[in-house]
Amino acid sequence: MSEAPARFPMRFYSVKRRALVPMAVAATMVLVGPAWAQEQTPQSTTDQAAEPSASDPVKPPPATDQVAEPPAKDQVKAPAAADQVAAPLAKEKEARHESARHEEKPKRFDWSFAGAFGRYDKAQLRRGFKVYKEVCSSCHSIKMLAFRNLSQPGGPEFSEKEIEALAASYKVKDGPNESGEYYDRPARPSDLFPPPFANEQAARAALAGNYPPDMSVLAKARGYSRGFPLFLFDALPGFSYQEHGVDYIVSLMEGYEDTPPDVNLPAGQFYDPYMPGRRIGMPPPLSDGVVTYDDGAPQTIDQYAKDVAAFMMWVAEPHLESRKRVGLGVLAFLLVFVGLLYYVKRKIWSDVPH
Ligand code: HEC
Repeated sequence: MSEAPARFPMRFYSVKRRALVPMAVAATMVLVGPAWAQEQTPQSTTDQAAEPSASDPVKPPPATDQVAEPPAKDQVKAPAAADQVAAPLAKEKEARHESARHEEKPKRFDWSFAGAFGRYDKAQLRRGFKVYKEVCSSCHSIKMLAFRNLSQPGGPEFSEKEIEALAASYKVKDGPNESGEYYDRPARPSDLFPPPFANEQAARAALAGNYPPDMSVLAKARGYSRGFPLFLFDALPGFSYQEHGVDYIVSLMEGYEDTPPDVNLPAGQFYDPYMPGRRIGMPPPLSDGVVTYDDGAPQTIDQYAKDVAAFMMWVAEPHLESRKRVGLGVLAFLLVFVGLLYYVKRKIWSDVPH
């Protein structure tokens, strides 16, 4: 009789403590696993390449896809094979030397739409659209955007009149008509933005073999790893940083530099340390004063880049504001609901002795 109450809490605690270990392991795996795996992949190609087997000559080289890597260097066995692999080896070394030049981490900027309470800045979206329209749209398409989207709530919110006038200034292909032919007509607000090039081949032919990617989701399609310990926060809902893409786009726009003397760039390529591989086939698109703003914002590369990046973010995620609003509402509801449930539980069990 006297033992029972004493034993119960003890057993209860020991079970709980034992359960903590797998729980901690699982939590670590969930948090660290994906980021660790991401960090590992690029490292394995560059790090091993720099020091082939100096660290541990006794160990056989790892059985990865590095076939051309000669274990022969410090093993006496295969001098004959060395000649045959010499040429591809030199090429590979050069390639590795190039890939060892990692791109720089984008700088971090302040965005009105960052964080749980983030909202787009309408004036900024309008300016960004102007930059897109007057500069970027001569090369980059934005196929998923319809003219009417520009007047929807949560975006640049142009008036319907403005959108009709804007659409009418573009020509789109339509058809076939009664005689079976395709024809050009002025665009309507329901039309999608017409692309600058008919197809990828036409774009490459006009741009020294380079293909400007479609901008519909580009701001969300580019990202980078922020490294330890920030990736831990990125794995947590509510704390994650979601502005990697826009940071990258601004850094890229501002990052053009003169080509360093030890780098050979093919014609049509430019040096930009933020682009993976540090070379980009896009000539620097922005310069101070190239777009005229009528709301008094500074007409600088910095401002243009931030505005167009914000616009690209809106195109990629037009419902960001409602997503955040609904998220906050759900959290508030859950908090109230937890309180209610707790109160109900106390009420129901209040006359049961325990
Ligand atoms: C003269 C044509 C041209 C103009 C104008 C232009 N771009 Fe590009 N852009 C390109 C090409 C070509 C590429 C592909 C480069 C590559 O793959 O090396 C590209 C690539 C990009 C990329 C992708 C880089 C990556 O990570 O793959 C971004 C972002 C970008 N452009 C933004 C812009 C913005 C913003 C503007 C307007 C301010 C703009 N571009 C104007 C031709 C252009």
